[in-house]
Amino acid sequence: VRAPLRDGFCRSVCYLRVSVTDRCDFRCSYCMADRVQFLPRKDLLSLEELDRLCSAFIGMGVTKLRVTGGEPLVRRDIMGFFRAMSRHLASGALRELTLTTNGSQLSRHAADLAACGVRRVNVSLDTLDAGRFATLTRRGQLAPVLEGIAAARAAGLRVKINTVALHGFTEDELFPLVDWCASEGHDLTLIELMPMGEEGAEARIGQFLPLSDLRARLAERFTLEPLTETTGGPARYVRLAETGQKIGFITPLSHNFCESCNRVRLTCTGELYTCLGQEGASDLRSALRDTPDATALESAIRAAIALKPRGHDFDYSRGVPQGVMPRGMNHTGG
Ligand code: GTP
Ligand code: 5AD
Ligand code: SF4
Repeated sequence: VRAPLRDGFCRSVCYLRVSVTDRCDFRCSYCMADRVQFLPRKDLLSLEELDRLCSAFIGMGVTKLRVTGGEPLVRRDIMGFFRAMSRHLASGALRELTLTTNGSQLSRHAADLAACGVRRVNVSLDTLDAGRFATLTRRGQLAPVLEGIAAARAAGLRVKINTVALHGFTEDELFPLVDWCASEGHDLTLIELMPMGEEGAEARIGQFLPLSDLRARLAERFTLEPLTETTGGPARYVRLAETGQKIGFITPLSHNFCESCNRVRLTCTGELYTCLGQEGASDLRSALRDTPDATALESAIRAAIALKPRGHDFDYSRGVPQGVMPRGMNHTGG
């Protein structure tokens, strides 16, 4: 039996997030610049290389694999990658294969995703107002996203909606989103905006809305019952007693969860980021390309994980977001 993947703080790493592309068909204003420069396609790992890397992690004890981007479903032949990964579900090595998506291409892929063993999807959605949606995403449309979500449900997938809390914006969106999720049967998770991104990190500070504010608004209308179970991600959940629905809170700034971190992030160029909120990354592409030997790749993975930092520097204890990070969220997929 192999030693499980452990970092220097005795946390075991069982959750791999793999960003298969940095490209996206939207330009959400809090995530990317309108004129963002994407990586040249030649710099991307092939799907076969991503398969070898992910399979190495799974062989070393990773049981949850989340495909992210950019927008993962804009990568050509991405379903080939899901089909390839589904063999690890069949063997029992992988417990969960899933993705985080903006939903724009979900209607055409939902049935195939379900056929590959995907059981639930996380869809980013910050507003149900078509005009505000178009403005926020700069080039997205709400209708295809709602169709994608409906197609996912029709294919038997569970849907979790991810909503980033934005000051002066989400206050008006909260109850429409909560009511819509209740009537459609989706889970909802609220996320604190992290001060990240090449040009906008400073701008994020004015957009920040602590989740304590949204939680207080929810408590005015509903009875919040804290739940202890998790999905292995960072969200803490409550159940609304009146509707029975589950609401998650991801609070990197106001209530850091690094102590129980179980995840690392692989980029589409083969870098391994062991913390979303820190700059250090290890290059696994060389280990992958330079030797056909699986042991060399495994040693490179173990060495990278040994460097996982204790946590990020995002913080809100002084009432102002701290820990600005120039890296864009689309680089590591959130
Ligand atoms: P579940 O499997 O449904 O629990 O998903 P998840 O929360 O692990 O994944 P998802 O892609 O829905 O993540 C939602 C967001 O949470 C991400 O886009 C990030 O913004 C944030 N997040 C996830 N993991 C971390 C983390 O380790 N550190 C920080 N600071 N934020 C994280
Ligand atoms: N802070 C928090 N969440 C962010 N996302 C994008 N940028 C940020 C940020 N700066 C979210 C998206 C999506 C997920 C992948 O990350 O809305 O839900
Ligand atoms: Fe694309 Fe997601 Fe960034 Fe929006 S938040 S631009 S959907 S990667």
